[in-house]
Amino acid sequence: MVFNIAWCITGAGHFLLESFEVFLKLASNRQFKITTFLSCAGEEVARIYGVLDKLKQISPGGYYQEIVLEREQGKGFPKAGRLARGTYALLVISPATANTVAKIACGIADTLVTSAFAQAQKGNVPVYIVPTDYKEGIVTTKLPVVIDYEACRGCDTCPPLIKCSSNAIKMVGKPNIDLTLCRCCKICVDLCPYGAISFGKEVKTRVRKLDAENVRKIMLFEGVKVLEKPSEIHDAISSLGVS
Ligand SMILES: Cc1cc2nc3c(=O)[nH]c(=O)nc-3n(C[C@H](O)[C@H](O)[C@H](O)COP(=O)(O)O)c2cc1C
Repeated sequence: MVFNIAWCITGAGHFLLESFEVFLKLASNRQFKITTFLSCAGEEVARIYGVLDKLKQISPGGYYQEIVLEREQGKGFPKAGRLARGTYALLVISPATANTVAKIACGIADTLVTSAFAQAQKGNVPVYIVPTDYKEGIVTTKLPVVIDYEACRGCDTCPPLIKCSSNAIKMVGKPNIDLTLCRCCKICVDLCPYGAISFGKEVKTRVRKLDAENVRKIMLFEGVKVLEKPSEIHDAISSLGVS
């Protein structure tokens, strides 16, 4: 028996790499076929964290193994309609941004991912959601490629700027990374002679009360399981009796 799983990625850096690892492992089990759905912001952030080009390892193409981009889906999101037809065993939104959780909490379905959620509920498909802003307080998260301006010497000839194949580093007084262009090849990290560029640097951010409240709202939705972190996805799938 093969189970189709719909995996939605929204525009969150937090939990993105962890979610990718979980789905990479699931994809290695031939019992599962995974369709990956990306919101517009999800596509951008997946590129910024170096995950976008690797998604083919999870959804290599073919029926129910496609990568579905919101950017290419018009306004009605026809591929999300599949979820209402009961052809998926499960929908997982991981990571789920505060924005997507807020929309779901209010019943809004105007993006690929929020529409997939609404359709899944109409089709009685169980949904797992891993929010980035689970509970109020401080969370530690990882930054994409960033420049530490304390360490940067603003060299006249900046090797990362010269070698960046995406032309994502511009000189604006000092070198500056344009994340709308960065593909996260990380070549710049090794090329800076002063170690001023890093990837995955940890920072602390605050979860807003409003966002945590929205998470609590969606916990009450029928057919929805809210998970605290991506590592819980596998056990939750086992409890469905499909693995
Ligand atoms: C590099 C980067 C990382 C981000 N990480 C997060 C995050 O961890 N959590 C979050 O709620 N929003 C995050 N955002 C902001 C969302 O992408 C933004 O709110 C977007 O509108 C979400 O759209 P979506 O919910 O349709 O994917 C991030 C944005 C960028 C550029």
